[in-house]
Amino acid sequence: MLKEGTLKDKVAIVTGGGTGLGKVIAHELSRLGAKVVVASRKMENLETVVKEIKEKGGDALAVTVDVREPLQVEDMVKKTKEKFGAVHILINNAAGNFICPTVNLSYNGWNAVVGIVLNGTFYCTKAVCQDMINQNYGRIVNIIATYAWHGAPGVVHSAAAKAGVLALTQSLAVEWAPFNIRVNAIAPGVIYTEGASKQLFPTKEVQDMLIKQIPGKKMGKPEDIAWATAYLVSDYSDFVNGECMTVDGGTWLGKGILAE
Ligand code: COA
Repeated sequence: MLKEGTLKDKVAIVTGGGTGLGKVIAHELSRLGAKVVVASRKMENLETVVKEIKEKGGDALAVTVDVREPLQVEDMVKKTKEKFGAVHILINNAAGNFICPTVNLSYNGWNAVVGIVLNGTFYCTKAVCQDMINQNYGRIVNIIATYAWHGAPGVVHSAAAKAGVLALTQSLAVEWAPFNIRVNAIAPGVIYTEGASKQLFPTKEVQDMLIKQIPGKKMGKPEDIAWATAYLVSDYSDFVNGECMTVDGGTWLGKGILAE
């Protein structure tokens, strides 16, 4: 774990910060000294995170936003600046997903997920970029998935959107490097959260099947992603840019001759 104070005086926005990975990321950034804005659709979840962070001595703000709505996203950034004066770090974590054979996927289903993941990431990034350029400092981390580069039957909407976010990450990393803005991604493998469990592995059979594919035979935990995120927004990753860090226990490499 990085040491407390690593992110002192930094202001971070974490989308999807009310639950799951985003909540744990928000706590970790706060532990490291950042002031954190948690943003998502449900105020109730966000208020809980803010309360928890404040109880631990940190400072945080809850902002409701649907990242599919550019004006709401702009308002989120405005509120962040009103409260904390600047935005140094953006974690594009908000996501939506559900398993659905593509033949049954409705246009609205496609648009809901692509809207949250791809458009939402772009809107949030666009809303902070001019300030980051002006202040000559920015750290952006996009949470994607390992299937961004090999696809995922049954969640084509999410796979296509995450692949788009990977291309966005690499493009902007180069475009904005002259302004001391680093843009990186994290590709989590199977991480246990309540939301992921509900949407993607709701039964014990599916969970067991997934665990069998993981070399270490265990799912990841949200902290694994939060620690990787903290590293990527800290100065310890100063020369890491346009990279996607896979945090999946080696699953994407396959098992070769050991395959069952
Ligand atoms: N299977 C098939 N279609 C589905 C679906 C499912 N399980 N869940 C939603 N959809 C479709 C809806 O039917 C709707 O399409 P329709 O109008 O043609 O019927 C469309 O997706 C939008 O659904 P809706 O619930 O109105 O959208 P929303 O904006 O409220 O929800 C989702 C967004 C769809 C991503 C929703 O699953 C969600 O909010 N999930 C929680 C967050 C999450 O998934 N996190 C990721 C954890 S891994």
